[in-house]
Amino acid sequence: MDLFKTYKLWPIEPVKGLGCKVWDKNGVEYLDLYGGHAVISIGHCHPVYVSMMTEQLGKLGFYSNAVENSLQVQFAEKLGKVNGYDDYSLFLCNSGAEANENAMKLASFHTGRSKVLACGKAFHGRTSGAVAATDNPSIQAPFNKTPNVEFTPLNDLDALKKHLSTKEFAAFIIEGIQGVAGIHVPAPEYLKAAREICNQTGTVLILDEIQSGYGRSGKFYAHQHAGIKADIVSMAKGIGNGFPMGAIIISPQFEAKYGMLGTTFGGNHLACTAALAVLKVIEEENLIENAAKVGAYLLDQLKGHKAIKELRGTGLMIGIELKDEYIGLRDRLLFEKHIFTGGAGNNVIRLLSPLCLTKDQAAQFITSFNELTA
Ligand SMILES: Cc1ncc(COP(=O)(O)O)c(C=O)c1O
Repeated sequence: MDLFKTYKLWPIEPVKGLGCKVWDKNGVEYLDLYGGHAVISIGHCHPVYVSMMTEQLGKLGFYSNAVENSLQVQFAEKLGKVNGYDDYSLFLCNSGAEANENAMKLASFHTGRSKVLACGKAFHGRTSGAVAATDNPSIQAPFNKTPNVEFTPLNDLDALKKHLSTKEFAAFIIEGIQGVAGIHVPAPEYLKAAREICNQTGTVLILDEIQSGYGRSGKFYAHQHAGIKADIVSMAKGIGNGFPMGAIIISPQFEAKYGMLGTTFGGNHLACTAALAVLKVIEEENLIENAAKVGAYLLDQLKGHKAIKELRGTGLMIGIELKDEYIGLRDRLLFEKHIFTGGAGNNVIRLLSPLCLTKDQAAQFITSFNELTA
């Protein structure tokens, strides 16, 4: 059997990692400013993570959601203490797409409405509902196309008002920072106004913090830069530092009914242990403050660079839109300087490093970037 070829692969196989570094099977060292697609939050193979996971695996890796699991309760309590949403409740699942599916489904149950509004260029995942709310027809099969989803341009307040004033929408779903689109930050005034309009029209405000959350933006969630609260927040990626996990947190106004949401694997013993280890390390090592500080350093060093058309983002979620003559730089960073970065289209480099990136490692990137664009 061969693999179903839906990924364009780099000819590199990382086999070992530590902190912000990975090594390939030939022993070549790479600086990881990609974080395995924004997934590695506390760094590769953190010793606290490895020891907690190993210990739990030796006790019980999995049972079922039909029995009590105090690790889930511990995680909910801990998360509520650090994320500014202590009075919300937690539902655990396995991925980002699944988190958004549950968020949109819950909004629809709650309001009795069937439509969802999403932003232009949004990416919310690849399962049916999530891909329908993703503004990229090339990844929607005919099965996924639905009149129940409409799109509104990011940061266009008049368009948002017009859509939501119909009171047809169960939810407005928006990324804390648009990632796949190439790092586009919602204006704080837009988010504040969206909060107001959702209140006035009975629309559930869903913040997709799957890529931008968990400290990446320099606050626990990116939308907290705007000082607003969502009704539902979806998370995945960094929550498990590589162990597949998704979650939504849900405002107290939502009524839970038995059976309305469910999953076999979600919130299993290993996933919750991974999530507890991540929060422990984030707190003990002040990783959110580090993301803010090292991110600010990177932005400062890149500001006004001759190779850059536009620089966007905050914390360790940075989009570098290159001028045309520098397209191809991402591959050169990888193959000539051994630095992994993310991409968006062919002209945006996305920096999504683990939150433990040091200033020296950031400086290493800047030196390489300058050398390749000299
Ligand atoms: C903002 C956002 N939402 C949802 C998803 C989907 O997450 P997953 O791939 O875990 O299903 C992603 C993945 O890149 C994402 O960036």
